[in-house]
Amino acid sequence: MCGIIGYIGNQDAVPLLLEGLKNLEYRGYDSSGIGIVPDAGGSIQIQKEKGKICELESLLAGQSLPKTCLGIAHTRWATHGAPCRKNSHPHANDAYTLAVVHNGIVENYQPLREKLTREGYRFLSDTDTEVIVHLISKYLKGDLVKAVQRTIQELEGSFAIGVISSADPSQIVAARVGSPLIIGLGDGGNFIASDVPAIIRHTRKVIYLKDGEMAAIRKDGVALWTFDGKPVRHKVDVVTFQMDAAQKQGFPHFMLKEINEQPVVLEKMLAARLKKGKVVLEGLELSDAALKGITRIKIVACGTAYHAGLVGRYVIEELARLPVEVDVSSEFRYRSPIVDRKTLLVAVSQSGETADTLAAVREAKKRGARILSICNVIGSSLARESDGVLYTHAGPEIGVASTKAYTAQLMMFYLLALKLADVHGRLSAKERSRLVSDLVAVPGLCRKICRDGEAIAAVAKGHSHYGCFLYLGRNVNYPSALEGALKLKEISYIPAEGYAAGEMKHGPIALIDEYRAVVCIATQSDIYEKMISNMQEILSRKGNVIAIATAGDKEIRSHAGEVIFIPATNPLLTPLLVALPLQFLAYYIAVNRGCDVDQPRNLAKSVTVE
Ligand code: AGP
Repeated sequence: MCGIIGYIGNQDAVPLLLEGLKNLEYRGYDSSGIGIVPDAGGSIQIQKEKGKICELESLLAGQSLPKTCLGIAHTRWATHGAPCRKNSHPHANDAYTLAVVHNGIVENYQPLREKLTREGYRFLSDTDTEVIVHLISKYLKGDLVKAVQRTIQELEGSFAIGVISSADPSQIVAARVGSPLIIGLGDGGNFIASDVPAIIRHTRKVIYLKDGEMAAIRKDGVALWTFDGKPVRHKVDVVTFQMDAAQKQGFPHFMLKEINEQPVVLEKMLAARLKKGKVVLEGLELSDAALKGITRIKIVACGTAYHAGLVGRYVIEELARLPVEVDVSSEFRYRSPIVDRKTLLVAVSQSGETADTLAAVREAKKRGARILSICNVIGSSLARESDGVLYTHAGPEIGVASTKAYTAQLMMFYLLALKLADVHGRLSAKERSRLVSDLVAVPGLCRKICRDGEAIAAVAKGHSHYGCFLYLGRNVNYPSALEGALKLKEISYIPAEGYAAGEMKHGPIALIDEYRAVVCIATQSDIYEKMISNMQEILSRKGNVIAIATAGDKEIRSHAGEVIFIPATNPLLTPLLVALPLQFLAYYIAVNRGCDVDQPRNLAKSVTVE
């Protein structure tokens, strides 16, 4: 979603801000802007533009911006008001002496706007953000920190803000509730940013601002306070993020690179988490005895992470025989969930900043549940708010469509299920050792699928023109069907639905005709024959079947127009393999349709507002 970068120091601010914005592009945005305080004094200068950052750069190329060492910049993902120049950030007061960038949503902006309008403040945009700058302007009596502090008291909702003032060019004032914000401590200058990649080329030393904290960032230091003015002693973290991991490294898109990274990600996870067959869940922060005391598990997540949670339910119930419920976070948080001290709430999130998942966690915490997160981004809000964190260490995922983070989340669920099965003594030694060797073989099998990834381009070519896709799977691959459909729709914009194949006759069969493509996950398992029946029913209605099947299956070709084979594995583990051809298929179809694969329209990488 929206991205923030701000700089104060000895260097020329504009190139630093533009570079920061580019490194935040992956979050998803529709316009961008920059606001600077000229070194020579005078009012704040703001430039903004709709579209990609290159549009902003072209606009700037036509101007001669004054020299500056202080500025803020923003990529906006529209919530209130269309994506256009006037709604882009920064927003300024009438006199251009104050400017604000904001991530999040001011929920009470309407009454605030009405009141401020009555008081004579002029609104130029349709955004919720503009109330912030006018409130600061109203309360500014010389001390910017105090004016921001006073403003914050009136705001409801979530926000991360950066504020500059031409009357006080010695600082950037920042504050956060709900939306992430970090402070980067550089050499001869300091930064604010919504995310580490924005500043990583300049510093690895960061302070994670907590909810309810504000800061004054100066050239040579920072000061932090709570919103009620109590000074805060801050901790400086050193981030280990590798910038080259966030480059395309020869691939045409981040998504394709990240699909191909999966064998290595899974291999590394297993090497770190499965030592001589023993599951090592560093970060779990629960003794075996405490884990044994857990009587039920609730999983909350959104989107792809939710699909990983659905697979997790099958796997934990199968291996550990514990009851598991899975909820989308946005539903869980509002439905008076039943949790207690014996409930383990597992929150799954790549970014660790998803607003609904964070809210679900806070709700469950209030009701006494213990929180375990499965998270990719180190130091994220979710990680910090959980009692235990299992990091997936998949490396930065830049493509908006989640790929490697998903299979890493799946792998974590297999490991967690195995650990739970161990403490509850649910598996025989033979079953256990079989499962462990099957798990260890998975990265190699994924590698085989990646090697043949381009072959899926041919299947994609023959199906890119279809206007509608159905994905069907059963049992542990029912969530795979949901995930396959999500991948396709988010990057190719083709309507796609995932269904439990057993549900086909209860509605979706009405969609089938020669213009539909139906992806059927028909790998070898106890319910293989059931999938074959589904496929026959589709063929007899002239539907076009693409089957995902197990290598060596000789029968499958007579039930499908196209077959994508995956290597044989333990049926319980198939979601780890099935994910890859589904990702390749979605990727190549989107490329054929000329879509912006890495930054699909309207989507954001981390959904930091509700
Ligand atoms: C996945 O391809 C999506 N873009 C999206 O569904 C994502 O998984 C969801 O927003 C959850 O994000 P999180 O894992 O960062 O919480």
